[in-house]
Amino acid sequence: PLTAERDADGGLHVGGVALSELAREHGTPLWVVDEADLRERCRTYRAGFPGVEVAYASKAWCTTAVLQLVDEEGLLVDVVSGGELHTALVAGVDPSRIVLHGNNKSLVELDRALEVGVGRIVVDSFEELDRLERLAAARDTIASVWLRITPGIDAHTHEYVRTGHDDSKFGFTLSLGLADRAVARARDLEHVEVVGLHAHIGSQIFGTDPFVANAEVMLDLLARWRDELGVTLAELNLGGGMGIRYTHEDHPVEVARYGEAVLHAVDERCRRRGLERPRLVVEPGRAIVGPSTLTLYEVGTIKVLPGLRTYVSVDGGMSDNIRPALYDAEHEVALANRLGADDPISTTVVGKHCESGDLVREHASLPADVAVGDLLAVAATGAYTESMASNYNRLPRPAAVLVRDGQVRTIIRRETLDDLVARDVPLR
Ligand code: LLP
Repeated sequence: PLTAERDADGGLHVGGVALSELAREHGTPLWVVDEADLRERCRTYRAGFPGVEVAYASKAWCTTAVLQLVDEEGLLVDVVSGGELHTALVAGVDPSRIVLHGNNKSLVELDRALEVGVGRIVVDSFEELDRLERLAAARDTIASVWLRITPGIDAHTHEYVRTGHDDSKFGFTLSLGLADRAVARARDLEHVEVVGLHAHIGSQIFGTDPFVANAEVMLDLLARWRDELGVTLAELNLGGGMGIRYTHEDHPVEVARYGEAVLHAVDERCRRRGLERPRLVVEPGRAIVGPSTLTLYEVGTIKVLPGLRTYVSVDGGMSDNIRPALYDAEHEVALANRLGADDPISTTVVGKHCESGDLVREHASLPADVAVGDLLAVAATGAYTESMASNYNRLPRPAAVLVRDGQVRTIIRRETLDDLVARDVPLR
């Protein structure tokens, strides 16, 4: 899973730069983004879905430089809050190429989206249809929306990242008739135009079957609405959710196979139901940014408990990567500054936070001579790490650098101690 390779001296390097040099220059913890890899993933995705628009789900990593990169690669940008929208605008993304999501968008967020002219708003509830009608009327404009449908598909992934099952907080539940009521309701609105549908079934999903099932359910819905209501919708967003490889045990499908399976299902269904292929959109987040980044940590202390385990503590942890604590997620860990001894030992790599659940990896195989001052690289940390980072225990959030062909650019500066107290309002 590491996109890094080893130098002659055994140290890992990325994009033509030794990780030990990056640690010296920029400190640790540090997110290291392989720019060529990130760009390649955008291209692979677009190539795997010919004729389909790819929207980057910016929740995975919403920082200005990353949005600029994916924008340059021709992806749309999906945002779910005023903050993500602001970041996309600061990055220079054309508003018409932005999609706004969210199950509880505020009036301010919706109004801002109308003001700047985001391309599509994904409507999640009846309340929101009414809000948009009022706001769009006040601006004398028409909101182009997709209805978010909850298709009743239970993807086999972590409970916290499933979204397509009936008992979900997102969208209009198809099986309970809410989708039908939503489209009927929208027909009465003068300032809201439903141009398509959206369905996202979850995240870190392996295999193609749930995605195929999702496409079929949605096309059947389009066909039924055409037949029963005379409503023809030309756009269909099938969501994101493609699983990536975090450890050697993960075997995700290739994007091309996933694209083939979905497009084949779409065309087959369209043929059977006499539909034209709608304008399709997919919205991956993790698969775009996840694998292109690693986190670099320095080993601080090592505690050997004979017969029990060896704890290796690093200088970050759950504040820069909550995923192991939150989802029992696993990320591959490797010694980064040298090859190390041949005989590996099983260690538990932990962070520096005041919680026993502050894991980096529970069973990390590291060279037996791993020592204080060594550097560890943790793989595939581009998605949902920085974007979910906190200042727990008042740790300053790490810096991020972009590397390519031996060149290094800081894309997020390290937080300072003063940053940590900048919003505090002291009593005296
Ligand atoms: N579209 C919608 C509507 C979504 O809710 C999501 C992710 C995506 C697209 C992108 O899914 P992806 O391609 O990245 O799987 N924090 C969790 C993942 C949460 C996913 C939330 N929604 C994690 O660290 O695993």
